Amino acid sequence: MSHAPQDSPSSSSSDRARVTLPQIQQWRQEGRPLVMLTAYDAPTAMVADAAGVDILLVGDSVGNVCLGFETTLPVTMAMMNHHVDAVARAKPKALLVADMPYLSFHLGVEDTLRNAGGFIRRGAQAVKLEGGAKRLAMIRALVDAEIPVMGHLGLTPQSVNAMGGFKVQGRAEADALAILEDAQALQEAGCFSLVLEGIPADLATRVTETLHIPTIGIGAGLHCSGQVLVFHDLLGLLPQRPAKFVRKYLEGFDLMRDATTRWAEDVRAGAFPGPAESYKLPEEIRPAVASWQPGARRKP
Ligand code: KIV
Repeated sequence: MSHAPQDSPSSSSSDRARVTLPQIQQWRQEGRPLVMLTAYDAPTAMVADAAGVDILLVGDSVGNVCLGFETTLPVTMAMMNHHVDAVARAKPKALLVADMPYLSFHLGVEDTLRNAGGFIRRGAQAVKLEGGAKRLAMIRALVDAEIPVMGHLGLTPQSVNAMGGFKVQGRAEADALAILEDAQALQEAGCFSLVLEGIPADLATRVTETLHIPTIGIGAGLHCSGQVLVFHDLLGLLPQRPAKFVRKYLEGFDLMRDATTRWAEDVRAGAFPGPAESYKLPEEIRPAVASWQPGARRKP
């Protein structure tokens, strides 16, 4: 099969071309804000894609958002593969990025390449991994193996124990300068973009100004090259109070609870299913079914 060149993508129609890395870079140069959202399953990917989202992240946040863990640390490659498969099957037009879970890129280059390569074989176009200078060897090896890498600095949830909790990072001078230096190092190592999470907005602005690759902020203020949110936070699907940086665009939990309550009431009142939600026997076989008795033999 030949690899025909694609038309340039439009920004939000459902028949848009698949988003590519060069497209992301071009949007960064044009100053067009990038829109990234998490997706962990096929229906979510379809909703986000229909909304014209640019980048879908199968985040390891699936651990605390969907799988009931308190942190992302218990998330394994097997869990991530399951969710990357589900999102890839939706065939999104958004750039598909798979998140490397804890310990999937810490044990050596070979293990890192096998894990990331597995994501690419499943349909991801890039991987994301957390951390700064410590991760450069792995990032270089991935880029050498034609695996595009999105970096992730600031409040990196896999470092929750080292950070002593989920705390805003980069408020002390040394920490702020370390983030600026790490961002440069990740860019030099070949990252095509960088998530900045949980850092002061003015620090994120400075990081963004000093890089040519796009930054994508979450809890990092307005002046990143783009923004990312967790789908369930955006739609208010979780019962707990959201973090300060989240803006809810729907009271999804309340709406879903109310709909479920109404359905349960209908079931209890004998009002569900109605005739329109039921199948009918063909007219001619109704007498046989109505007169059938247990133990009755069918005539040969
Ligand atoms: O796992 C995730 O959802 C993330 C985003 C918050 C960037 O890493």
